[in-house]
Amino acid sequence: MTPHTWILELEHVIYRAGATEILAGVDLRIGRGETHALIGPNGAGKSTVFDVISGRRRPQSGRVLFNDRDIRGLPPHAIRRRGVSRAFQLSALFDGMSVAENLRVAALGAHATRFSSDTPWRRLHARADLGGESDRLLDMLGLGARRDDRVDSLPYAQRRLLELGLAFAGDPSLVLLDEPTAGMSRDEARHTVALLRTLGAGKTLLIVEHDMSVVFELAHHISVLAQGAVIASGEPPVIRNDAGVRRVYAGAFAEAGDEAGRPLP
Ligand SMILES: Nc1ncnc2c1ncn2[C@@H]1O[C@H](COP(=O)(O)OP(=O)(O)O)[C@@H](O)[C@H]1O
Ligand SMILES: [Mg+2]
Repeated sequence: MTPHTWILELEHVIYRAGATEILAGVDLRIGRGETHALIGPNGAGKSTVFDVISGRRRPQSGRVLFNDRDIRGLPPHAIRRRGVSRAFQLSALFDGMSVAENLRVAALGAHATRFSSDTPWRRLHARADLGGESDRLLDMLGLGARRDDRVDSLPYAQRRLLELGLAFAGDPSLVLLDEPTAGMSRDEARHTVALLRTLGAGKTLLIVEHDMSVVFELAHHISVLAQGAVIASGEPPVIRNDAGVRRVYAGAFAEAGDEAGRPLP
């Protein structure tokens, strides 16, 4: 593949917290437009990888290339404006504001440069775009009827949907999702998977997910992280049959007291 096939490349990323090496030289390549799952046992470093990509933690060495530019060390808002967004498991919603306002604030954050540096005329057009964009997002989320309702009046399931939607506001090109179906019922998870297909069309998604049925349903490519390093990366059938991956998972399930050695689906 040519270099431009990759939207994101991590090259030997090392991250230490004090004396603990949490990322021990992570190499990871994400193809443009693909849905890529990052899996691995608890404590492997998956969330830390997301922190590094989104600028919340600065690795001591290595490179983080987004569209061929090194973004290592840039602050989170600068990375967001370049088109990398992250969905949070914990609520990032403004309770006292309406559903539509929440989406618009998220989109504004993603486009802040556009608003501060453009002419008033262009700014006006951009604002109109944002309104249209947030309406389209609301429709996709099935929240059109709630657009003017305060967020704290929504039932939990709709709050989760809106949180997911926030990550797609401002038309990011790469979206990081940390366990988007955690704590959901089977039906809710299925709905979220369908939604991710719609919302993610034309975008690159990097998903941390424990539910293997979700992983194998959505992912074009899977990378496996264990003890701060990528131990396997490939298309789903390759990962499914990788002996090293099976070993790591068997160990993790046994440690967690889960069904020991449960095979990947
Ligand atoms: N600030 C920190 N200091 C020391 N250890 C940390 C710190 N942050 C995370 N860790 C450890 O780093 C490892 C990776 O954490 P994390 O990235 O959250 O893993 P995952 O998301 O794969 O479960 C864990 O063992 C965690 O306890
Ligand atoms: Mg995690």
